[in-house]
Amino acid sequence: MIQPAPAKLNLALHVTGRRADGYHLLDSLVAFAAIGDHVSLQTGPAALTVDGPFAEQVPTDDSNLCLRAARAMGAEASIHLTKNLPVASGIGGGSADAAAVMRGLAAQGWSLPDNPAALGADIPVCLASRPLRMRGVGERLDAVPPLPALPLVLINPGQPLATPPVFAALSRRDNPGLPDPDWHDAESLIDWLARCRNDLQPAAISLVPVIAEVLAALDRAGARLARMSGSGATCFGIFDSPDAARAAADALTRPGWWTVATELAPLPAPGYISTKTGRK
Ligand code: C5P
Repeated sequence: MIQPAPAKLNLALHVTGRRADGYHLLDSLVAFAAIGDHVSLQTGPAALTVDGPFAEQVPTDDSNLCLRAARAMGAEASIHLTKNLPVASGIGGGSADAAAVMRGLAAQGWSLPDNPAALGADIPVCLASRPLRMRGVGERLDAVPPLPALPLVLINPGQPLATPPVFAALSRRDNPGLPDPDWHDAESLIDWLARCRNDLQPAAISLVPVIAEVLAALDRAGARLARMSGSGATCFGIFDSPDAARAAADALTRPGWWTVATELAPLPAPGYISTKTGRK
């Protein structure tokens, strides 16, 4: 059974505080792109094989989140991962793959772990794989108005960026939360997003300055809005039409950059389950 693991995008991400244990409180509009990794599962001894353009960067030992997800559900599964997305790049990656394993095993009758967030803060939202407002450290998920299928260009400049140093480089941790989600079409969504930020963006640029170049290149190519996702380094640009996104992606191909035209997936792909189902 093949499970899609779509790229996660933080269309806006505000850092609103910090817990006593050092984790940061977030307020983020999370959505998913129409591209991603794929996971297929077969019953059998625990094993992981990987192919795809970014396969070489995926650890296949016990630290792999797919294997940890299966273990957390007490399941033995033989997992095949097709890694289409760059790793450590702010678009879900390991969390999306782990959530796809959890969804696949739940569809076969295994119970989801009691605390999926324990494996990674983005796993609860990736389990749902639909647009949501994510708060706390990822455990609080609220519905948002429907999102349009916005044309996008995603660019990763080829520099993996670990999450902890980006949070450590923040200059402020007490920013205001997101404005109330009140969009009703693409224009009002873009206006709403323009009033938001990714608070991790300046911190990530201080560590990987080429991110600023990627954002400027997206602006020059006609993006209505260009922003980094998650803790980086992948950035997204929102375009007026699929043709404009494709033309920009063609123009923004550089050696070492991963550049792709896609769109926002407004609804979960068929076969997705809510985190409330799948209990044995
Ligand atoms: O959730 P994940 O395991 O990917 O997070 C990696 C690290 O990023 C955490 O160990 C923590 O240092 C930092 N982090 C944070 N606040 C969050 C999410 C991650 O400080 N909300």
